[in-house]
Amino acid sequence: MSLQNDLLLRAANGLTTERTPVWLMRQAGRILPEYRQVRASVKDFKALVKSPELATEVTIQPVDILKVDAAIIFSDILVVPEAMGLSYEMEENKGPVFPNKITSPADLAMVHVAEAGELQYVLDAIALTKRALNGRVPLIGFAGAPWTIFSYMIEGRGSKTFSAAKKVLYADPAFAHKLLDMITETTIKYLQAQVKAGADLIQVFDSWAGILSPAQYEEFSLPYITRICDAITDVPKTVFAKGAFFARAQMNNLNCHVVGLDWNMDVAESRALMPNKVLQGNLDPCALYGSKQDVKRETIKMLEAFGPQKHIANLGHGLYPDTAVDNVRCFIDTIQEYRFSH
Ligand code: CP3
Repeated sequence: MSLQNDLLLRAANGLTTERTPVWLMRQAGRILPEYRQVRASVKDFKALVKSPELATEVTIQPVDILKVDAAIIFSDILVVPEAMGLSYEMEENKGPVFPNKITSPADLAMVHVAEAGELQYVLDAIALTKRALNGRVPLIGFAGAPWTIFSYMIEGRGSKTFSAAKKVLYADPAFAHKLLDMITETTIKYLQAQVKAGADLIQVFDSWAGILSPAQYEEFSLPYITRICDAITDVPKTVFAKGAFFARAQMNNLNCHVVGLDWNMDVAESRALMPNKVLQGNLDPCALYGSKQDVKRETIKMLEAFGPQKHIANLGHGLYPDTAVDNVRCFIDTIQEYRFSH
């Protein structure tokens, strides 16, 4: 099906665009009263994720309400460990918790390389969303990077230091590689199935990249992201490794089209380190707490730093749930109305 708005895909492919496309990480979520209403109609977060009809509805909400240039399928990176055998619970105001976690090589018996069919509800949600979007904007599919998923499987919850996960890297690297390999195999099958179901672009989230040293990142994360990028064909790929400023030169060599930047990464420096890549990002989500004037000024500063081409506008991380919808709109409108004078 041809797309009415293909700005995101043209930009991702390095083609010229008449304006900068924009979408936001966590655009479907608690900032929207319409999301909170759907969310309140079900038992919990997982019920929403596992209902293709409701996932479709909340995926499309930001397209209707905020007029973003792309939809991102409503799901979570934690569906992958769940399919592998470690189910999670999303605790209100606390985040994800895994009742069982992997603490030793013997625990690997609890998990398996999952087939894509074990995540059929996500694939159904993608197919349904594609139909409902009817070509209005592209649909982004996603998964967590193996290192980030590994961290959750070892820690059993979020963490400030991820010291338990990092301990494994030092104490038993062979065990770490074994689990990372299983996650990678699962993720490849899952992302290939997302593309088959209709995802127009794939983003890999390495949310906890920044807690590794450059050498550890090179050993325990990049090779697995490389395998994923090499295995996903037919659609553009984005890698967002939060905090991995030290790995930008290596990321220029990944088989991906787009690299996401967080707000700590200088744009000019990133352009110099990654001349092969389209860049995505990177306004600090906290910049949206200012007045509309502040939002507009900071957004234009961001646009000017990236320039008119090879840029997909976004935040440097997901939207915070207490952000005013009007300020999110102001961010999006400023980008969509902006014309470069040079
Ligand atoms: O709009 C979108 O971006 C699509 C949906 C999406 C969600 N999670 C929905 C969600 C995406 C792309 C994710 C990815 C995700 N999930 C990441 C990677 C991106 C990042 O933020 O670094 C991570 C680390 C997770 C794990 C996760 N899920 C955490 C830590 C939490 C709790 C924190 C929080 O924001 O509450 C979640 C819950 C979650 N995932 C919510 C949403 C909308 C909020 C829960 C709710 O609505 O009840």
